[in-house]
Amino acid sequence: MAAAPSNILGIETSCDETAAAVVRRLPDGSGEIVSNIVLSQIDDHAPYGGVVPEIAARVHIRHLDGLIARAMKEAGITFSALDGVAATAGPGLLGGVIIGLTTAKAIAMAHNKPLLAINHLEGHALTPRLLEPCPFPYLLLLISGGHTQFQLVEGVGCYRRLGTTIDDALGEAFDKTAKLLGLGYPGGPLVEQYARRGNPQRFDFPRPLKGRKDCNFSFSGLKTAVRETVHDLGHLSVQDIADVCASFEAAVAETLQDRLKMAFGFFREAYPDVKKPSLIVAGGVAANATLKNIFATSADEFNFKLIVPPASLCTDNAAMIAWAGAERLALGLVDDLDFMARARWPLDDVSAPIYGSGKSGAKV
Ligand code: KG4
Ligand code: ZN
Repeated sequence: MAAAPSNILGIETSCDETAAAVVRRLPDGSGEIVSNIVLSQIDDHAPYGGVVPEIAARVHIRHLDGLIARAMKEAGITFSALDGVAATAGPGLLGGVIIGLTTAKAIAMAHNKPLLAINHLEGHALTPRLLEPCPFPYLLLLISGGHTQFQLVEGVGCYRRLGTTIDDALGEAFDKTAKLLGLGYPGGPLVEQYARRGNPQRFDFPRPLKGRKDCNFSFSGLKTAVRETVHDLGHLSVQDIADVCASFEAAVAETLQDRLKMAFGFFREAYPDVKKPSLIVAGGVAANATLKNIFATSADEFNFKLIVPPASLCTDNAAMIAWAGAERLALGLVDDLDFMARARWPLDDVSAPIYGSGKSGAKV
């Protein structure tokens, strides 16, 4: 454990958020967010109905230096007072990742500070420890626009993937459903709003992989079912849209409940002695209130403690990258300046790739 507090600058540019933050790690292992700035690019991508990699990279270049300067100013420290510079080094849109990582390398080199090349997924995985004591091991469910996976988080740098999506990510399924219904982007929050006024029983959408004895996910069949329903309906009334959204959300909720049950079982098998383990849910989809209820009841039923970080730390941000850097620095896990950006980078090196997963390689 480091003997003095460490100040880490974090940089996140792997998708459509440009972000910079300063986080402090105290010798007792607790953390503090000193500054945390996120610039969302949603408006730049909305006209295209999804993230355009070239636009994302250009927006990162335009704003990153200014955001870092603001984060440092708000933190009230100079580069020389940093103990390390952390940046997302993958997985994500390669152009964006290179911009953030190269910037971090330049600062690290100019100020003779250690570089921490962070796996973006590790940022999500370690976030709860920035907020409260959260002993290893715990179970992570990451549900975002690019990833849908269960990880067994056993320690800093020690992860075991229990399951992942074999096709679309959950956030992607929400976004595609919204697109089919002519709603805007990003679709998740809009689908949730419409679903509140809809009938979840009107359409009997599939519950993909329900009952399968593993922890994987699949959402492409559900998307196809939504597409066919929308096609059959022809002209869509507001009530039709609400009913499709509610029925879609009900199918997702039941699927997640089933997959959670499997993951809880695997966790108990791996760690029979942990009395009350934690379930961490992260990623943009974790903001969905209906799904949050499912997480709460499932965690309760299987005696897990549910932790859903606040939305600002659940979605992409640089504080989580700085924090992962702080945790790694405390263990002496620093990186060389020639560390290469990676478009694909599974958190768990031993997991076999799943055919079709992460096809877009875009959002994480
Ligand atoms: O983690 P995130 O902000 O970004 C990345 O994917 O990197 O997640 C964004 C995803 C989008 O697909 C968005 O539609 C979905 O999270 N999302 C939601 C909700 N809010 C955001 N999905 C369902 N319900 C929501 N309330
Ligand atoms: Zn993410």
